[in-house]
This record gives sequence, structure tokens and C-alpha cells, in this order.
Amino acid sequence: MKKGQIYEGVVERVEFPNKGIIRCEEETAVVKNVIPGQKVSFLVNKKRKGKAEGRLLEVLEKAPYEQEADCPHFAACGGCAYQNVPYEKQLELKENQVRKLLQPAFEKQMLLEEIQTEAASYINQIFEGIKESPVQRAYRNKMEFSFGDEYRDGPLALGMHKRGSFYDIVSVRDCCIVDEDYRRVLACVLDYFLQQNSSYFHKIRHEGYLRHLLVRKAQKTGEMLIALVTSTQETHDLAPLVAQLLKLPLDGKITGVLHTKNDSLADVVQSDETVILYGQDYFYEELLGLRFKISQFSFFQTNTLGAEVLYETARDFLGDISGGGKRDKTIFDLYSGTGTIAQILAPVAKKVIGVELVEEAVLAARQNAKLNGLENCEFIAGDVLKVLDELEDKPDFIVLDPPRDGIHPKALKKIIEYQVDRIVYISCKPTSLARDLEALLDGGYRMERVVTVDQFPQTANVETIVKLSLKKQQS
Ligand SMILES: C[S@@+](CC[C@H](N)C(=O)[O-])C[C@H]1O[C@@H](n2cnc3c(N)ncnc32)[C@H](O)[C@@H]1O
Repeated sequence: MKKGQIYEGVVERVEFPNKGIIRCEEETAVVKNVIPGQKVSFLVNKKRKGKAEGRLLEVLEKAPYEQEADCPHFAACGGCAYQNVPYEKQLELKENQVRKLLQPAFEKQMLLEEIQTEAASYINQIFEGIKESPVQRAYRNKMEFSFGDEYRDGPLALGMHKRGSFYDIVSVRDCCIVDEDYRRVLACVLDYFLQQNSSYFHKIRHEGYLRHLLVRKAQKTGEMLIALVTSTQETHDLAPLVAQLLKLPLDGKITGVLHTKNDSLADVVQSDETVILYGQDYFYEELLGLRFKISQFSFFQTNTLGAEVLYETARDFLGDISGGGKRDKTIFDLYSGTGTIAQILAPVAKKVIGVELVEEAVLAARQNAKLNGLENCEFIAGDVLKVLDELEDKPDFIVLDPPRDGIHPKALKKIIEYQVDRIVYISCKPTSLARDLEALLDGGYRMERVVTVDQFPQTANVETIVKLSLKKQQS
């Protein structure tokens, strides 16, 4: 295949997260935003070390199982990848992607344990497949919409980035991974600023006012927090907008409207200063019978009902930690966010120590533990890599739930050095997990159970949970 040329081919498979593999003229090309079985045409736009990368031009023939996407924005919007794939098939795709990514780790384990059976049947004993999300639409409890324009110098837009575009924004008035309340809020804010003829913050020129709209709505309590993120280049009276928002016929209840000022050059939602325009700067969500106070920037799993499946699975994988009812075990919840996992485990533990980088999340975790009447949780703010050196407590069990990049190799070394009997690793990026598993296997651990949990229907993301046991003390 040659750069600049157009080719046709059938998508053989899609590798995590969104890399379609197409065999053509004895070579393979990687093309994004396709699904297995589609016949497509693509333009080769990169060729490096014999590997071709292409840009999708047209779907020439649909995949046999392909369906019409419910969402009218699907073709243009970069938010979802699998709206045109029936949910059962989405699950199959994700399960196979994770299985393939973890295959080298399974094979390594077979080698270390001198297991002679066929790899596929060995993997089947440990890999438990995929658990589905209890809801497949309107499941998100948080959405970050961006302001921009749909095309150069077009009218103001508010929504998601266009597929493959850094600049263009698709207004997602009918987005179906959020509920009607989000759509009403989005339409209200967009129409308000369209009327005002307001400017958006241009990512290259760094000029303009409107940047993002963050909407969070608790699935269980219905409480909503809305934050408008702008630069400080203009001053606007936002009181009329707040009045319009409060008049919306919503199923949920707005507990706070915030104005977050952000003059950073990077295209991220962050705050130089936050002003409360209405109500308070937090809301409450419930999960597995516990209550959690969540603020604008606190990490909280974005699919509350899915998170219950995820955390219940993690609790199950950890097994009996109560010491036969004695409650004498210490657990480390590393990368603890607002302390959800720690608090779920606390009732059967002697002590749970959560470590989390974001100070605000740690403060929320402490408040949450108090709110839930849990006195045996301690939350420490800091980098896991550093905090582990300062901790005097020794864990009996460890739960790991790192960010997408996985665990820093030096931090992982320290975690392994504790040589605890059981580790449960929750991963939101199986490629990082595959890397970290290599080190854990070298450190004397074996995978006992692995399962994927679909927290993000319609998109290419998936969570994976692994139960690891120290080899000399399998449980
Ligand atoms: C996937 S989230 C998990 C949060 C939590 N376990 C939950 O389920 O709500 C990962 C968390 O790790 C935190 N984090 C990222 N890097 C970190 C580091 N080096 N040390 C400690 N925490 C870190 C992030 O702020 C984020 O809250």
C-alpha cells in the first residue's frame, strides 16, 4: 500500500479501543471508526515501518449485524463508537478485545506455572467474559460539553468534538447516552448564548469567552450540578441564564449552578476561580447503599448503576476480608478518588487507607466516610509513589484502581514488595493493565479471575477487573 492512495477492504477485526484492521494486497492497514465485517474504502495517510494507517472514506457494504444508530449525531460525533452495533455484539467485541490484549499475560502465567494445556482453554478457566451495564442509554452521570463551531466560522455549537477533529464541535441536542434533563440544559445554554451572539474560546488564537459546559446528574438522587466554564476575557451577567435554567421542566433537581473561570491555554476543564451562581457547589449520589458528596472535579464513576456492578464484582473478587468476622485486616485502596471502594469495604475491615492525588477528592472522601458513619477509613492526599514510602501501616489486601495510564513502574514495585495475599486490580484501560500484569506476574502473583465490566455502552471503553493471588498462598 502506498501513502496517498485509496484502497478497499473488509474490516477483519477491531483492536482496543477503536483500531480497525483491514487486510488488503497482502498487507494490513489500521483504520479508525469502523466495525468488523464492514467493507470500506480508505485513504492511506501514513506509512511507517511497513505499517499503513488509513482514513475512512466510505462504508461500501454494511456489516451483516449492523443496525441503524438511534442517535442522529452518530455519524458526525466523536463521543460514541458503537451506536450502530447491537448491544450483544458490542459486548462480544469488547470481551474479545480484552481477551486478546491479556493473552500474552495468560501465556506468561502458563509458562511460569509449567501448564501444558491449550492456551484458549486455560484462558477460559480464568477469564469470565463480560458483565453488561444495567442500562445502555441515558446512563451517564456526568458530561463535559465543549463550545465551538461546527465548521470554520459557523454558528456557535455546544456538544462533542467531531470525529477525528480537534476543532469542530457537533451540537448534540439529542445525545442518547444522557437523559432528557441533560438535553434540556444543553439546549437552554446553547440557545441563550446564540441569542446573545457570544463568542467561544478559540483553541489556537486563545481568544473568546465560552469554553465548556459541565453537567452532572446523580442517577439515584436526581440532583444536578451545572458548571459553565469560560475565560475571563469578557464579563457577562449570567443571572438571566440561571433564571432560565431554574425554570426548565426537569425530572431532576438543580442543586447548584457554577461559573468556573479558566484562562489556561490547554483544552481541559479546570478552574482558576469558581463562583457559585445558585445553590451549592456539590451534589449527592448513592451507590450500594452509601451516600457520596460529589463536587465539580471529583472523580466518580460516570455510570452509577454500572459502578455498582463494578464494585460488587471487585468486592466478590477480594473475597472474605473480614478474617472470619474478626475484622482484623487492613486494606489499601490505592487511587481512591472520592473513597467509594474504601467505604464499600470498610464495614468488614479493621482499617481502610485510601491514597489519592487530588486533594479535593480526598476531602470529599473524608466527608463521605463521616456521612456514612464509617470511622475506620483514612484518606491520604498524595502520589501513591511517594505516600507508600511514608506509610507505617502494612496492608493485608490491596485494591488498585489507577487512571488510564496504569501504575507507575516504581509504584508497582513498591506495591508488589508488600507481598499481600490478594490484590484486586480495576482497570479502565486494558492496554495499561496488560503491561502492569507482566510486572505483577514477575513479582510472584498469579491471575485467579479476570472479568470485563461494560461501564460505557455505545463507546469503545471498558473496565477490567483482575483478582491476583500471591503464588505461595493461593486462595
Ligand atoms: C480511575 S480513578 C479511581 C477512583 C476511585 N477508585 C473510584 O472508583 O471512584 C483514578 C484516580 O486516581 C487518581 N490518581 C491519578 N494519579 C495518581 C497518583 N499518582 N497517585 C494517587 N492518585 C492518583 C485520580 O485523581 C483518580 O481519582
